Order: sequence, then structure tokens, then C-alpha cells
Amino acid sequence: MIVLASVALSADGYIDDSSPERLVLSHAADWQEVRRLRADCDAVLVGAETVRKDNPSLRTKDETLKAMRREHNRPEDPVKVTVSRSGNLDPRSRFFTQGSAEKIVIVGRNAPQANIGRLRRAATVVRAESETLSAAEIVEILERRGIGSLMIEGGSRILTLFLTEDRVDLLRIAVAPFFVGDPQAPRFVGEGRFPFGPARRMDVVHVERVGDMTVTLYALHARAADRAYLRRTVDLARMCPPSQTAYSVGALIVTPDRQLFTGYSRETAPDNHAEEEAILKAVRAGVPLKGSVIYSSMEPCSSRKSKPLSCSELIIRHEMARVVFATYEPDRFVDCCGERRLVEAGIEVTVLEELAAEALAVNRHILGGHNTR
Ligand SMILES: NC(=O)c1ccc[n+]([C@@H]2O[C@H](COP(=O)([O-])OP(=O)(O)OC[C@H]3O[C@@H](n4cnc5c(N)ncnc54)[C@H](OP(=O)(O)O)[C@@H]3O)[C@@H](O)[C@H]2O)c1
Repeated sequence: MIVLASVALSADGYIDDSSPERLVLSHAADWQEVRRLRADCDAVLVGAETVRKDNPSLRTKDETLKAMRREHNRPEDPVKVTVSRSGNLDPRSRFFTQGSAEKIVIVGRNAPQANIGRLRRAATVVRAESETLSAAEIVEILERRGIGSLMIEGGSRILTLFLTEDRVDLLRIAVAPFFVGDPQAPRFVGEGRFPFGPARRMDVVHVERVGDMTVTLYALHARAADRAYLRRTVDLARMCPPSQTAYSVGALIVTPDRQLFTGYSRETAPDNHAEEEAILKAVRAGVPLKGSVIYSSMEPCSSRKSKPLSCSELIIRHEMARVVFATYEPDRFVDCCGERRLVEAGIEVTVLEELAAEALAVNRHILGGHNTR
């Protein structure tokens, strides 16, 4: 299972204050981004205290996101999950009453039967084997129910549980530009033995400004980093000037010393490919690409009419170590054999086809119903 954790913090690391009202740390632009990430997951999880205190609905809300989920044969809202030792939750809270998604409450082994009976009218109740669950047990219960991607949205104790057990793959932290300074307020995480410290640092995949907030996406495991970088290439592909005769592709290079170079098709010249644009930026900056990883939303090309070197050839000449792409090039214009060329040159190739549908959807204007080979 892929686990994404998302949290909004004050500049001094608090996720709320100690007043009865929920502290608003985010704003519409950040919430929209969070909803987009939520819509990408099979399920969303919050701790029972967050259900009691914040009364969140955890719905997709946005019509475009709902349509996107329907298109991928998913229900409009991700499954909602909460964890509670006691099962002491109000079935009238918005977690239970809003949205069409299945609601799951995972309760501790000794949760009182009266609480379970009350919740069964509003949700699927799963009694765990432990009183205090581990993150591994929660993941196992959800995987058995067919959930392959989970977004955790707090609170502090649930985030601490998953992070200390090294069960988070991607971590999104949005920082609001103000202080709370309230010692009674909950912090992002509590005490614990975290697998990431000075000797093991997290990989910063992306940093952006969303309104007045700073959002950082960290990858905690290699496969999650691949997925996150590849997702960015799909986002980059959406920026391409449209063409009926060439695909819209995004590319991103990560150098061995973690410098990033991005590109998208036709970014600076009408016949430039995405990989070429990213490589050009690195070359202009004087950064050698030996040993780099290049991510591309589509298989790098193996022949070019307009240029002496194909993208595969450029990657080989720059001695890159690895290529990760989302989809093979459909055989609409040429019969591409980029993957074979790269492998023959000793470059490791990974195809992460879970993002293939999105990478192809960006090219719907060319492909129509035409699909992967
Ligand atoms: N800024 C943000 O992004 C953000 C997001 C979400 C929440 N928050 C804030 O976070 C605060 C709540 O955080 P919190 O740490 O107090 O609570 P929490 O993590 O939301 O929930 C804690 C509760 O979850 C259950 N639980 C936790 N670990 C468990 C385990 N290992 N096994 C079984 N059950 C377990 C227990 O429920 P029972 O007590 O029912 O047994 C526990 O009391 C609120 O102030 C909320 O506003 C902020």
C-alpha cells in the first residue's frame, strides 16, 4: 500500500491551538490541493479525536475530481477510515453522515459492544486483534479490504504512529506563516523514535508556494519518490503547447547530488522534446548528468526526423543511470524502441504503469480512443 500523510502546521510546528474551535491554518488554495491528493487515493484516514474535534466531512467536493474518479471506475469519494480504541464516536458526525463513500471504523479489541452497536448503523466496524493498534495492523486490515492507497490527514497521534513505524511513503507538509506558541496545543508529532534523523534524511521531492503557505513534499521510500517524480512529469506534460503532430510529455532529471531539472515538450522551441528541454537546462547550468535518474511521462524516443539525436541517445551520451517512465509511446507516429535502446546501453529502466492512463489522457487530443500498445 502507498501511504501519503498530509498535515498543515503553524510556523512553530502546531497543528491546532487549545481552544474548542478548530484553528484554521490553511486556505482555499491549499484545501483544493489536499482534495486533489485525496481524490487520488482509495481511502482517507483520520484519528478518532480529529473526528470528534474537527468534525471533518472528508469528501471530494470538487465536481472535476469526482468526474475523474468516475472515469477511473472509482466511487466519487474515497473510503473514509478512522481508528478508535474505544469506538466512542458520534454517528451523527459528518464523517458518518456526509458523502456516499464507505465508512470504516477500526476499533480496539476491548471496545464496548454498546459503542460498536451504535456505529454499525452508520459504518463498517472492524474489531482489531489488539487494543492499541500498530500502523502495520491498520495497513493489513485495509489491504485485506482492497485498499491500495491511503491518505492520512491527522491528527498528531495517528501521524506519530505511522511515521515512527516507517509506514509513510510520502509526506506533505503545508506551513502557515504564523505562530501559535500555545504549549497546550497539539504539535505535528509527539515523542517517538523516528526512522528519519540527522543520519537519514528525507528526500525533498517538491517545494511550492500555495497562496501564503509553503508546501513541501517529502518521499520517505524509493518507490514513493519514483511515483512522486513521475506524477510531476504528468503535471508538466499538461503545460505543453498543444500539437497535433507531437505528444505532450513532461520530464524531470534528478542528479546524484539531488539537483532537479524539468522540461516539457515544446517548452522553448517548437520541436523540442521534454527530455531534451530538461537536459538543456542542466547543460546550460554546467551540471554533469552522469549517474542521474530521468523521469518521463512517456518512453523516451528512439528516432528523430528533425534532430540528429533521439532522446534515448541523449540519455545514453550523458551517462544517466536510470530511466523511469509511465507509458510506452503509442505507435501512432513512429514505432518507438526507446526502452530497448536504453537497456542495450546498460541503463536501468523502470516502467511505472500506474500513471500510464493519466500520461495518455494528456494526449487525448491526438490519441482519441487509440491507446497503448
Ligand atoms: N492541521 C492539520 O493538518 C490537522 C489535521 C487533522 C487533525 N488536526 C488536529 O489534531 C488534533 C487531534 O490530534 P490527536 O493526536 O489529539 O488525535 P488523533 O490522532 O486525531 O486521534 C487520536 C485518537 O485515535 C485513536 N487512536 C490513536 N492511536 C491509536 C492506536 N494506536 N490504536 C487505537 N486507537 C488509536 C484513539 O481514539 P479513542 O480515544 O476513540 O480510543 C485516540 O484518542 C485536533 O486538534 C485536530 O484539530 C490537525
